[in-house]
Amino acid sequence: MIARTKPTNGPRILVTGAAGFIGSHTTDQLLGLGCRVMGVDDLSTGHLMNLRSATANSNFRFVRADITGPNVIEELCAGFRPDAIVHLAGLVSVVRAQEEPNLNYRLNLHATHLVAEAARLHGVRRAVFASSAAIYGDHPDLPLTESALPQPISLYGMAKRASEEVLMGYGASFGLETVCLRYFNVYGPRQDPKSPYSGVISIFAERFAAGNPVTIFGDGSQTRDFVAVEDIARANALAATRPGLSPMVCNVCTGRPRRLLTVLDVFRSLHPDAPAPQFAPARPGEIQHSLGNPERAADRLGFVANTELESGLRAFAQSLGTANSPQALATA
Ligand SMILES: NC(=O)c1ccc[n+]([C@@H]2O[C@H](COP(=O)([O-])OP(=O)(O)OC[C@H]3O[C@@H](n4cnc5c(N)ncnc54)[C@H](O)[C@@H]3O)[C@@H](O)[C@H]2O)c1
Repeated sequence: MIARTKPTNGPRILVTGAAGFIGSHTTDQLLGLGCRVMGVDDLSTGHLMNLRSATANSNFRFVRADITGPNVIEELCAGFRPDAIVHLAGLVSVVRAQEEPNLNYRLNLHATHLVAEAARLHGVRRAVFASSAAIYGDHPDLPLTESALPQPISLYGMAKRASEEVLMGYGASFGLETVCLRYFNVYGPRQDPKSPYSGVISIFAERFAAGNPVTIFGDGSQTRDFVAVEDIARANALAATRPGLSPMVCNVCTGRPRRLLTVLDVFRSLHPDAPAPQFAPARPGEIQHSLGNPERAADRLGFVANTELESGLRAFAQSLGTANSPQALATA
């Protein structure tokens, strides 16, 4: 492919999991800021298609590799000499992590240690890590602040929590600038709707697009802090490039609780001919409400999630190519 961009002297950023949902958006935003980006991904759940625009940029290089392989991440650091690593590669399915604890350990914890150690050995200044609101478990004190005691209730949440500790330990011991970002419920284009473990929004988007009814478990009054993937990518890019950050954990959320019924209403306005939704009994163990406090991200990172849920959902539905015109939303 012919490169359409000029080489820059911007910061060098190594992005693990670059071909994934969040990784590809993060790569696009970093390139847009003039960074030189090396993406690494084993394509286990990611897709090269997600990197279509990145691969047309001469400041982007891609390596297909398993970052938990012997010396893989070290050799990438030695060759590319990144200023920062944005570590997004991982096993995102909470259900699969529960079913395959060894895989969860390797991808969600051991990989983080390999990244931290490669950063130490090769003088990488900063590591940004994709943590998760899952580390809070079913915490009763909403909105959740970073000082809330983590109480993960899944192996996935445990591995994210332990990864934060690994990175903070490297920060305290070796001065690695570690930024652990606790994403809340992420949604948007390129989220894999085929996975049975996808978030509710991607399942809704896929079923509405296919003309199939959606099922609401419970009465739909449950609330979530939904964050658009463009905002997540912007938080990652800020965390990777903003000068003078000290080691921290930080929520990436909107601070606005949105009901599942609201999400449903927006999709119905975009797909007025869709079949009526079905309601089923609430699933045992499902958290009724989740909400983050976004103040630390604003104070320390200068980050505010500014995509409105309605416009974010519309962009997502349109990326699947079947939604009604934007005007439909005016009546939502
Ligand atoms: N999507 C969410 O709602 C959400 C919420 C909180 C945290 N996170 C975290 O954000 C990160 C990215 O998630 P996502 O939603 O983009 O998932 P994703 O599955 O789309 O992206 C993960 C990427 O990592 C790659 N990968 C996995 N193991 C690898 C390995 N050993 N070597 C190289 N590449 C590997 C996959 O192929 C994939 O492209 C994950 O760490 C996830 O736990 C996601």
